[in-house]
Amino acid sequence: MKNLLIISGTNRPDALSPVIAQHYARLVVEAGQQAEVIDLRDLPADFAFSALYENSGKNPDFNVLRDRMAAADKFVFIVPEYNGSFPGVLKAFIDGLEFPATFTGKKAALVGVSAGLLGSSHAMSHLTDILNYCGAHVLARKPRLTKISAALAGDNIVEASYIDQLRKQIAELIAF
Ligand SMILES: Cc1cc2nc3c(=O)[nH]c(=O)nc-3n(C[C@H](O)[C@H](O)[C@H](O)COP(=O)(O)O)c2cc1C
Repeated sequence: MKNLLIISGTNRPDALSPVIAQHYARLVVEAGQQAEVIDLRDLPADFAFSALYENSGKNPDFNVLRDRMAAADKFVFIVPEYNGSFPGVLKAFIDGLEFPATFTGKKAALVGVSAGLLGSSHAMSHLTDILNYCGAHVLARKPRLTKISAALAGDNIVEASYIDQLRKQIAELIAF
């Protein structure tokens, strides 16, 4: 699989999504492939005012992430549930990317993460609509990692059914 990027979809300092992203990357390696992680905590603090609209392409720090997204062939979005959808910072990030080249004809997979029982289900539907609009094909299997705190021990997902779902998704994404 060429150039797989995993995007941790929040800039919340104590977020659990980056833990999921890093474990996902290890599972990709176990499956014999490579993956890199983009962590939205690495966004420049002022990017919403210095890298969008008339400033598109003008923020060098944002452009590092923008160029990595443009160069990727496949994406995995780790999607935390915030107020029944995905975090606004993820939409702002997408709004700063090159359109339509970043996503057109490419493949994406989504993993939902929530404190509650929905597992970011609605959030993943919302993000699917946006990625489809931007030209990306979205894999049907979208694991919902509910009650995420109870499924983690340190840097690892320890809920076996979640690992099973992620492994199945990775196999499907490789073939996608
Ligand atoms: C602004 C905000 C809104 C949230 N809204 C929801 C929600 O609607 N449903 C839910 O189950 N959890 C909600 N959560 C909790 C997150 O799903 C939880 O923190 C989970 O670990 C994933 O987010 P994280 O990567 O920031 O940790 C919210 C958290 C924040 C910071």
